[in-house]
Amino acid sequence: MARLDVVEIFHGISFPGHLHTQDSLQRAVEFPFQDTDIVIVSYPKSGTTWMQELVTLISSRGNPHLSQTVPNWTRAPWLEQFYLASVLEASTITPRVITTHLSQGLLSSALQVSKAKVIYVSRNPKDVAVSFYHFHKIANFLPDAGSFPEFLNKFLEGKLQYGCWFDHVKGWTSQTTSMDNLLHITYEEMSLDLRGVTEKVSSFLQCPLVDDEVNNCVAHCSFNSMKDNKMVNYTLVAEEIMDHKKGSFMRKGKIGDWKNMFTEEQNQYFDDVFKSKMQDCPLEFIWED
Ligand code: A3P
Repeated sequence: MARLDVVEIFHGISFPGHLHTQDSLQRAVEFPFQDTDIVIVSYPKSGTTWMQELVTLISSRGNPHLSQTVPNWTRAPWLEQFYLASVLEASTITPRVITTHLSQGLLSSALQVSKAKVIYVSRNPKDVAVSFYHFHKIANFLPDAGSFPEFLNKFLEGKLQYGCWFDHVKGWTSQTTSMDNLLHITYEEMSLDLRGVTEKVSSFLQCPLVDDEVNNCVAHCSFNSMKDNKMVNYTLVAEEIMDHKKGSFMRKGKIGDWKNMFTEEQNQYFDDVFKSKMQDCPLEFIWED
């Protein structure tokens, strides 16, 4: 199937042109956030969909009705994609949940004037790179991934769409101490202690839950439950956009899958680049289960 890989370049970062326009990106950076908005921010493949599901369930006090009847791109639409305004206009869901992959630099002005609650989700970059590589194979709106070694080099050089992982993570996590409306959650925390993360996120959103409600959130956010939920597993998307014959969006859902792809040499090179690019950033990642 032909790829829809038109590129839109905005402030030096490339985005899939199938979903983004100069207008939609400009509107995103000037977006009038409301104080009640919940904004989920991530670099692609870091657990965005998982957090969308968790936030939906927390706001629904563990009731899965919304998460099982409304697609995630409608209940937590992407800020920078062209259809945002029409989705928000048609939606009656409160509080509004908005998702974005934009960098902190691009969103800082819009967020500065609002008390919107921001949840930043990060994931260890070796697993992000592997997940992104596989996603390129099914997502026809992204360029051909090429070989894994080529892809990994592009990831480390910040040449993939949505920009550089290092800049994204450093930009957003540098704000965690200065912005008290920003919560940083990692994919690995979710994987190792989803219950703890549910409590942390519900408390941050000032939506305290009783035990049964927390249990329901955790159950409906399990990998198996989400894998079978058409509203989040992207099987509702047309085949020319995502080709599920080439793989699943809900692929493995594990910490440390990079070990099945990286050679020793690639791992060493990755560690060297990581060390040099992250020397000014104290974040620690969990690399394996
Ligand atoms: P893998 O490709 O490693 O399986 P995003 O939503 O940011 O695009 O991230 C997608 C990644 O999150 C995929 O990783 C997907 O399987 C994983 N994921 C989504 N829901 C999950 C869940 N409930 N548990 C574990 N991983 C999940």
